[in-house]
Amino acid sequence: MIEIYVFLKPASVRSWLFLLLLSSMHKDNHLSARGISAAAKPSRMDLEIYQEAMDNRYHPDRNPDGAFPMNVAENHLCWEILQEKIQSITKTKNIPDWVSSYGDPIGVLSFREATARFLSKFLIHREISADTLAFSAGATSVIEMTTFLLADHGDIAVIPAPSYPVYTADIGVIPGVRRYDLQTHTEIDELKDGIPISIDQLEKAKKEIETMGSRFRMLILTSPDNPTGGIYSESQLSQLADWCIENEIHLIVNEIYGLSPININQPEIKSDYPDPIRFVSFGQLMVQRKNPYLHFWYSFSKDLGISGFRIGLLHSYNQDLINGYRNAGLSHSVSNYTQWVLQEVLEDLDFMEKYISTNQKALTESYVKVVSCLRELHIPFNPSYGSLFVWMDMSAFLSENSDHGQEQLWLEIFEKTGILLTPGNGFGHSKKGLFRMVISSLNHQALGVAMNRLKGFVLQKRNY
Ligand SMILES: Cc1ncc(COP(=O)(O)O)c(C=O)c1O
Repeated sequence: MIEIYVFLKPASVRSWLFLLLLSSMHKDNHLSARGISAAAKPSRMDLEIYQEAMDNRYHPDRNPDGAFPMNVAENHLCWEILQEKIQSITKTKNIPDWVSSYGDPIGVLSFREATARFLSKFLIHREISADTLAFSAGATSVIEMTTFLLADHGDIAVIPAPSYPVYTADIGVIPGVRRYDLQTHTEIDELKDGIPISIDQLEKAKKEIETMGSRFRMLILTSPDNPTGGIYSESQLSQLADWCIENEIHLIVNEIYGLSPININQPEIKSDYPDPIRFVSFGQLMVQRKNPYLHFWYSFSKDLGISGFRIGLLHSYNQDLINGYRNAGLSHSVSNYTQWVLQEVLEDLDFMEKYISTNQKALTESYVKVVSCLRELHIPFNPSYGSLFVWMDMSAFLSENSDHGQEQLWLEIFEKTGILLTPGNGFGHSKKGLFRMVISSLNHQALGVAMNRLKGFVLQKRNY
């Protein structure tokens, strides 16, 4: 619009009328108010630059000066293993007839059963039933559906900061629920003994929300966490569950990174965990309590590295919630063909066991590579228990302590190293200068080159 204005500046009144018409056409874009707002805002700020990095991806021979997209939470470490398995299934097995028909909107029974067995064996370590599961197209859609069914427009979901930026859109765009970023700490080293969330902080947030005339409806935790890699201890989860039940607040734990733990006994990193926290799935507590206020999210996008399959799930003992999901969830459901393929993979428990362990080894190798370099450079990071990330503090290099300063540093790192990180903007945390690095999007060779480039950047910044 501005360019057209400059171009038409010396023109006659007719040109002005043309301009007016153009701008009114722009306003009357045939969208609803919701559509206009959706069209105006991308779901995250780094998508455009991500495309640029992807188009110029590093390759040791073909593009040695290329870029390293390390901002989108994808796991490419073991795709070849899964690819071979899926290829053998689709080549050798007959496709069952049910694949071509409508199915249960929350997932066909045989797929829900296969997933229940998978989660019981590998993640929850307690038996769960297929009746407590509802599927839709990725955790994104599960988060949206669950929020839509549990909360009303204008309600508040409290999320300890920093946290996954896209929660804002998932709970906001359709369910109309707002995010409250609970500041549990300021400095990164306050995380080293666990995520310091307290009942006092929650009580204070509740009062504040109620004073604003809203309702604290949901508490969303991610464990292992995105971006910090922190986990909640069993006793923390139990205490938080008690408080939520007492206050009629829905507690949802997102364990989307539950099968992506870091092996904290690795000699290079063991000393970062002097008082280690044991990961216990929230699913265990849910089995004991079977309470309508407790829920669990999972997705195959991260642990299995198949974000493109779009399969996520809600696990809940709230039967009304599962019924609501079935009745309202058709537009979100997973294709039967996809369910069938994954069912075949999940039913081979020996294969899954080997896959999970290979993936965890590869992830730990990446993690050790990254944090060894950060340690050498004296860049503070949070010792991770799991997830695909390292959360690090580069605030020493900020030219100004603001969102703008953070964005400038993010762009400078990309320009000078080709490494595309995710800046803290959108994670809801008060401190500036923190960045998330995805450690699973590159193979180990490329990761080594990326870390060398980061080293060069940091040394140059410090004028060595
Ligand atoms: C915490 C968290 N929840 C949900 C998602 C979205 O997962 P999906 O690809 O299954 O929609 C992500 C992806 O990064 C995530 O980190």
